[in-house]
Amino acid sequence: MPNWLKKAIFYEIYPQSFCDSNGDGIGDLQGIISKLDYVKEIGFNAIWLNPCYLSPFKDAGYDVQDYYKVAPRYGTNEDLYRLFDEAHKRGVRVILDLVPGHTSDECEWFKQSRLTVRNQYSDRYIWTDCVWNRPPNYPLVAGNADRDGCYMLNFFLCQPALNYGFNKITHPEWQLSYEDDRVRATFDEMLKVMRFWLDKGCDGFRVDMADSLVKNDEDKTATASLWRKARIMLDKDYPEAVLVSEWCNAPKAINEAGFHCDFVLTHHGKLTRNATRNVVNGVNESYFCKTSHASADETLKTYLNELKQTEGRGYMSLISGNHDEIRLAETLDENGVKLYFTMLLTLPGVPFVYYGDEIGMRYLPQISKEGGFQRTGSRTPMQWDSGAPNTGFSSARREDLYLDVDRRAEAPCVNEQIADSSSILNVVKTLSKIRTDNAALQADQSLSVIHCSDDGVLCYTRGKEVAVAFNPTDGEKTLPCEMGEVIFKIGDYLTQGSNVLLKPQTAVIFKLKQEI
Ligand code: GLC
Ligand code: CA
Repeated sequence: MPNWLKKAIFYEIYPQSFCDSNGDGIGDLQGIISKLDYVKEIGFNAIWLNPCYLSPFKDAGYDVQDYYKVAPRYGTNEDLYRLFDEAHKRGVRVILDLVPGHTSDECEWFKQSRLTVRNQYSDRYIWTDCVWNRPPNYPLVAGNADRDGCYMLNFFLCQPALNYGFNKITHPEWQLSYEDDRVRATFDEMLKVMRFWLDKGCDGFRVDMADSLVKNDEDKTATASLWRKARIMLDKDYPEAVLVSEWCNAPKAINEAGFHCDFVLTHHGKLTRNATRNVVNGVNESYFCKTSHASADETLKTYLNELKQTEGRGYMSLISGNHDEIRLAETLDENGVKLYFTMLLTLPGVPFVYYGDEIGMRYLPQISKEGGFQRTGSRTPMQWDSGAPNTGFSSARREDLYLDVDRRAEAPCVNEQIADSSSILNVVKTLSKIRTDNAALQADQSLSVIHCSDDGVLCYTRGKEVAVAFNPTDGEKTLPCEMGEVIFKIGDYLTQGSNVLLKPQTAVIFKLKQEI
């Protein structure tokens, strides 16, 4: 287990929208390099970069055409090596996005695979044996290739599924076992892709749809067995490199498949969902919404259960948001966002902050680009400078921007938030520093919930001496617990004998009076 993960705070960068260095309207690697000092300054010490490989961008780059080549719109391979290098000089790690489940339908492998004449790529994708053989329970495309057969999709129409075989074989005439030599080449190629970038200085991978490889693999044992091979390779040859899965089942991903971290994602109904976006029939029931007065109990239960199962083996990764989710600031007010960050940066595991969330960037509705659909509203350009054209993202003409910037007068910007000590940005910066400086708050330290009541009050301890208390509601609430020295607070509190009265929308990090 790479030691650096204990202190890691990741920053997710969507390259399209972060910083445009050459004025063509789209973000690029040189732009990211120019903002590394900012990344470090806020306290992030690792970056996850969304796919930056050659692609027709029908799913924002999750449709890879060439795994070994940087998309020209972002720069060159050399620019990416320089990014690794410049980041490392600042003590910042960089992980890339690995998309192993599917390629673009314009990938050379797929072009070969569609040919009638058999070749080394014929089994690289999943095909039925004849175009009329089209079992309805599989996402198959018929009549779109010369080859006599239907191919299977993994996500969108542009993303044919790579062939890792099947666990349970229901149609032996076209399904290969995941242990068959003919499909082994697919995972071997992914290992090769990983080695290629690791050798160039990359620090690991966030693995897209990591659980999607072997088909008819209900309990995911076959898929997990493939990933264990990747972990063995890393342990042997790249012991400092990390694998982070988009699996959303920490016990499986960590204990069985060997990932170092697994995401806890909103649409999987765990902690962040109820914390940040649970708008049901117009009522916001999220824990951090001040009017919800919801208990954290139910949301914490699943989390604690998975935490216990994975303790000592890997880390759960909570997020502030990501390129697929509605932004935090859409459902929470400014205080709610600050309280959410207080939790994100004081729970165990390895936290991920999505670019722009650290200034409370808004979700922009009713736009769609490159297969983003409703997700596009969370992918708009970073707001650097309220006084600069296009909020400092790019010098291009407005109509040439990849996506337009948030032009509302009240749109949050980095320059203004840096100057305001109470801004979300400064809260995130302070919390990052507190996490980095206090061993008790780091990834592997214990968590125990010491108070969680129906009225929304929550208090947990980390390690032996730090505790964090929350009252996210708009009412005053009592916490039956004595506080020690206060390390950080949002809102306010009053001590009343052996109780604490927490004012509305308050979070306090404190040292416990006695070690527990
Ligand atoms: C993951 C990505 C998402 C992408 C999909 C298909 O869920 O996060 O953005 O569209 O996989 O690759
Ligand atoms: Ca550019």
